[in-house]
Amino acid sequence: MHQKLKERGLELGFERKDPYVNDLSLYLKHGKRNSTPAGVFVNKMLFAAMIEARSCERFKILSEEIADADLRQFYRSLMESEARHYTTFLGFARKYGQGIDVDAAWKDLLEFEAQLMESYGQKETMHG
Ligand SMILES: [Fe+2]
Repeated sequence: MHQKLKERGLELGFERKDPYVNDLSLYLKHGKRNSTPAGVFVNKMLFAAMIEARSCERFKILSEEIADADLRQFYRSLMESEARHYTTFLGFARKYGQGIDVDAAWKDLLEFEAQLMESYGQKETMHG
């Protein structure tokens, strides 16, 4: 990734503090499943899965919309790797989150996220 940016004369800077990431992690931290170690673990996995899933979608859009063939291919490969990360984290949650209904927890998180996006309005269409 860094090499590709360098080729185009871009440098990585410090990441800005992202309200989306912040709000999502606060929701999970204070969520109802945080009272057991398995619940804490599942929340961490779901948080990671959400970040990967959204990043996967972003790379998908870029891989479809960008004219430069080299970059399209590059974003396509990033999209595929993010999709793998997403399924890996959800898989860990299902495998090690004993007693936790991971599907219900994931659904809750998706619902919370939808409300979050609505609360941000139009200004936050991309993040990360
Ligand atoms: Fe990833």
